[in-house]
Amino acid sequence: ASSLQASIERDDSICRIDEEYADINWDELGFGLVPTDYMYVMKCSLGEEFTKGEINRYGKIELSPSSGVLNYGQGLYEGLKAYQKTDGSFLLFRPEENARRLQTGAKRMCMPSPSVNQFVDAVKQTVRANRRWVPPPGKGSLYIRPLIIGSGPILGLAPSPEYTFMIYTSPVGNYFKESDALNLVVAEEFHRATPGGTGGIKSITNYAPVLKPQTDAKIQGFSDVLYLDSVNKRYLEEVSACNIFVVKGNTISTPATLGTILSGITRKSIIDIARGYGYQVEERLVSVDELTNANEVFCTGTAVVVAQVGSVTYHGKRFEYGTGAETVAQRLRSTLMGIQTGLLEDKMGWTVEI
Ligand code: COI
Repeated sequence: ASSLQASIERDDSICRIDEEYADINWDELGFGLVPTDYMYVMKCSLGEEFTKGEINRYGKIELSPSSGVLNYGQGLYEGLKAYQKTDGSFLLFRPEENARRLQTGAKRMCMPSPSVNQFVDAVKQTVRANRRWVPPPGKGSLYIRPLIIGSGPILGLAPSPEYTFMIYTSPVGNYFKESDALNLVVAEEFHRATPGGTGGIKSITNYAPVLKPQTDAKIQGFSDVLYLDSVNKRYLEEVSACNIFVVKGNTISTPATLGTILSGITRKSIIDIARGYGYQVEERLVSVDELTNANEVFCTGTAVVVAQVGSVTYHGKRFEYGTGAETVAQRLRSTLMGIQTGLLEDKMGWTVEI
């Protein structure tokens, strides 16, 4: 086995030297998993702190059937991207924000989390190790998925005795298959989060429950589901995997982050960019009634970036919005992507070069 391992490693270093890029079709990237060469792994026990991690070959991990994550959903994830600049270097976008959000979420889920420096350093190491998988400029990005899971065995309901922090990556293109604007449907029967719950953090437990309404919506021809708050059933919350914005004239409104919606890093960057352009941005309760006469609606997220919404269907009525190149959404998206990819000057100090 050890000579096999040695030969894998030799092959590895050979292909790393010979191949500038992985052998895939960069023009056909969607948001599907393309496994890369390496992943980052760091473990610690309950009550301790993460100290030292390592880069391992990407591959399967061993878990006890009674691990906290498998039985009780004790898990949290993050998402960020690396873009390749034309000079061959890589840019991360506000990775310290992901680190801090992970820390907040980990506290809520009774899990340890890496320090901001440990997190950013681990992300950099993982991107460097997988550099041949970062798409060429203009072809997409390397999606980076950090995870913390309760990996130790537990039977009674309690925090897991051991935690694993991991980072894996995948080259990606657009999140939504639709090249046109999204057609959303407002969920009437289901809600994504409740006050006091975990809607405000990236707990893995927030995501499986949206699969059913999402699947039903897709069967009906919609792109995705827009959720309302679970108390009043009236205020916009978010779409399954992204935040939502409503444009009316010079005013851009987005639901305030009051614990039930995710505090998106793209969301807050778009708010700053829009204010810089002179739009009035309001973070507040946004009523579903405001969808009836909005000029534009768009979604934001790390995976989604900024996605235009062409229509929202609510109580069987379809409301349509402006889309295309001359929209507020497109203006904000170009600026954000310009900064993220290094084509525009980063006056905010948001990017981190690798
Ligand atoms: C992201 O935008 O990075 C997310 O974490 C959403 C995920 C469902 C792809």
